[in-house]
Amino acid sequence: MTKKLYIRTFGCQMNEYDSDRMADVLAASEGARKTERIEEADIVLFNTCSVREKAQEKVFSDLGRVRALKRDKPDLLIGVGGCVASQEGEAIVERAPYVDLVFGPQTLHRLPELIARRRETGRPQVDIRFPEIEKFDRLPPARSEGASAFVSIMEGCSKYCSFCVVPYTRGHEISRPVDDVLVEIAGLAAQGVREVTLLGQNVNAYRGALRTGSGAPGASGAPGVPSGPAGPADDAGASADLALLLELVCEIPGIERVRYTTSHPKEFGQRLIDAHARLPKLAAHVHLPVQSGSDRILAAMKRGYTVLEYKSIVRRLRAARGDLSLSSDFIVGFPGETADDFEKTMKLVDEVGFDASFSFVYSPRPGTPAADLPDDTPEQEKLERLQRLQAANDAQARSISESMVGSVQRVLVEGRARRDDSDLAARTSNNRVVNFRGASDCIGRFVEVRITEARTHSLRGELVAAA
Ligand code: SAM
Ligand code: F3S
Repeated sequence: MTKKLYIRTFGCQMNEYDSDRMADVLAASEGARKTERIEEADIVLFNTCSVREKAQEKVFSDLGRVRALKRDKPDLLIGVGGCVASQEGEAIVERAPYVDLVFGPQTLHRLPELIARRRETGRPQVDIRFPEIEKFDRLPPARSEGASAFVSIMEGCSKYCSFCVVPYTRGHEISRPVDDVLVEIAGLAAQGVREVTLLGQNVNAYRGALRTGSGAPGASGAPGVPSGPAGPADDAGASADLALLLELVCEIPGIERVRYTTSHPKEFGQRLIDAHARLPKLAAHVHLPVQSGSDRILAAMKRGYTVLEYKSIVRRLRAARGDLSLSSDFIVGFPGETADDFEKTMKLVDEVGFDASFSFVYSPRPGTPAADLPDDTPEQEKLERLQRLQAANDAQARSISESMVGSVQRVLVEGRARRDDSDLAARTSNNRVVNFRGASDCIGRFVEVRITEARTHSLRGELVAAA
């Protein structure tokens, strides 16, 4: 009988990507099929996040609930992966002995071995090491059901921002070799994928080896993989930066739109900016977290750039691509943030004109340097700052949406709309969902849509032509 797999994912797109890979691994090794119903599952996995809040406690309360399922179904396998697993390790099994598997973001490909050892020994298995890039060599080929897919190009982060737990839970920055990335994308394109988002914590720190083993660049023989570098590579031709990788990805037949996230202002060089002018397949949207508009706070956060440097990147990006929309992440209430520092953030928002962005109240993370800083801003004050920032940001996003009304947009149709299945749902280059009436044969293709109305979280449009 086919095994059923239930995965609950917390956190970022990296975790969404990792959850899909867990499903691929278990489909290959156990023949497991995904289910949305936890009660019918044979394997339950929690892919956790520890970037904010008391994520640990949330995981234990969720685990408490599946424990009851295990009483009726003793063979049920319960696994905890992701950043909480990475931080807590053995402590999870000590506190919740009914957990069978604990694995980190870099060891999810070892799930089949962990399950086998669990069955053999009858004991819970914990593996939260960082075995470098082994993960990608051991994963089955990525599968995709839609027209749009994520592709991880790097793992980890070496920036050590003073507030952030990611370098400790995901390890340091490691880039996948260029050929591996291109082969994966060519495979996805062959399955009908038309848009890819290159994923990593700081994708502009990408330095991927141009040669794997003794083979020449592009010697993998995969269909549609360009045969060599199309521009300068650093380190005497041994590695490619993000600008070069993007150029190569844009050459893969079938791939018509390319995104990347997240990028970091510290390493946003001119070559990447120029790529936006040169590569029409690059989406007109960049997510570039700034965190704060105060140089004093940016220094305390150890972000490695000033407000002026950030604004210079924005100016050059907009010179390269006039219609570019820019979104960001902000943290309010960082330890020591004064009312004056916060006003500087509001001023930056006003000057830059961001698209829909994310803002968070600072959450102290155990083990990070900022957790030891004195913090005397009252919680209420932090919440008020958050609300002001979010209101300003929502207003800016709304005005961008309104300015699109009447324009014709080339959109990728992702499927039927969630709310009303006589509508289709598509995505614009600047990352907005557009709903419109249309036939199923548009799904998976680019079409042209005239925007007729701006709604709070989406746009409404009408089909003009198949693009
Ligand atoms: N790599 C990205 C970058 O360049 O900043 C961000 C990765 S982080 C997982 C996503 C966002 O979570 C950050 O941009 C930051 O705004 C937020 N974040 C991280 N640690 C946080 C903390 N301790 N408290 C509040 N927000 C936090
Ligand atoms: Fe975190 Fe800063 Fe890296 S926010 S993921 S340490 S760039």
